[in-house]
Amino acid sequence: TTVEWEAESYDMGGHDTYMHKEIHEQADAVDRALRGRIDDRFSTVHLGGLNLDARDARAVRRVKILGCGTSYHAGQIGAQMIEELARIPSDAEPASEFRYRNPVVDPDTLYIAVSQSGETYDVLAAVQELKRKGARVLGLVNVVGSAIARETDGGIYVHAGPEVCVVSTKCFTNMVVSFGLLALHLGRIRDLSVADGKRIIEGLRKLPAQISEILANEEQIEKLAAEYADAKSMMFIGRVRGYPVAREASLKLKEVSYIHAEAYPASELKHGPLALIEPAMPTVAIVPDDDLLEKNRAALEEIKARSGRILAVAHREQEKADHTIVVPKNEDELDPILMGIPLQLLAYYTAKAMGRDIDKPRNLAKSVTVE
Ligand code: AGP
Repeated sequence: TTVEWEAESYDMGGHDTYMHKEIHEQADAVDRALRGRIDDRFSTVHLGGLNLDARDARAVRRVKILGCGTSYHAGQIGAQMIEELARIPSDAEPASEFRYRNPVVDPDTLYIAVSQSGETYDVLAAVQELKRKGARVLGLVNVVGSAIARETDGGIYVHAGPEVCVVSTKCFTNMVVSFGLLALHLGRIRDLSVADGKRIIEGLRKLPAQISEILANEEQIEKLAAEYADAKSMMFIGRVRGYPVAREASLKLKEVSYIHAEAYPASELKHGPLALIEPAMPTVAIVPDDDLLEKNRAALEEIKARSGRILAVAHREQEKADHTIVVPKNEDELDPILMGIPLQLLAYYTAKAMGRDIDKPRNLAKSVTVE
């Protein structure tokens, strides 16, 4: 049976909106996703409901992740994590596109359906099509007992707890953390070393405290939102690990504030979108301290040379940026989990300054159970 959370009886606990409450629940939510799953003895994790033994897991030659909206973005980060840690070729695709293109279903591919509600029609239809063709499909789902959780062969509950705001925040974070757990698990069954397993586990354990640190910086983000709320349009850029973070942050801003936003890989700027850059089109740049730092800095220079305003989310102050939100550094592979969190607050405060209906943006529904 489907378990429904009682939205109306769900207390807002002193917050003005569910969005604000749910953003602030993220340290606890991540803690819940990790609880009872870490296996220090073998530097890996236990994922009870996966229903995939080590031999099956070793036989996987590809991973294909399917979801919609925010869940698709979480899947994009998940695919990168699985490729990096388990070295299995992986990618993510909108479930809505996948199901309409008569997909080639490969028996050696592990399919993963990602969904907060577990009821999104396009994702469910993709799962049913895959099952009909004999594929193995796992679910990465928040709502326990939901349709997608029931239709899949096994999976991971992300344990974000009830998410009421139409705009997804804490569930996205917990999905990405859950993908981190899955990537570690698949990696340690293959060639990921004990030392790297330990390194990732230490990184995962740091997340709740680091999330609290980011949220403690709320005042700075509120001020920045006032600074950028006059924009008619905003550009979000990132590279490799930072690109899906930019896409998700751009979706958050447009959903809740109705400001037009675009997300591009920083490397693609010079192939067209640079033409848009001028003072009235600010750029939010994801600039992690990883091996692409210098490349990202070069992109900031390009934007500055066209008089573009820049807000960077980075691990240290960026001279080329007009403003920097500094976030704590984790392991390179886990950085995407943290870098989008201040941008959830940016979207929230921008929408608040504009008087938007934050928990129920116009034209949107929490679960899209129709085609
Ligand atoms: C998130 O902010 C959105 N409102 C939306 O993109 C959502 O993520 C999408 O509809 C998928 O929903 P699901 O995770 O419940 O399947």
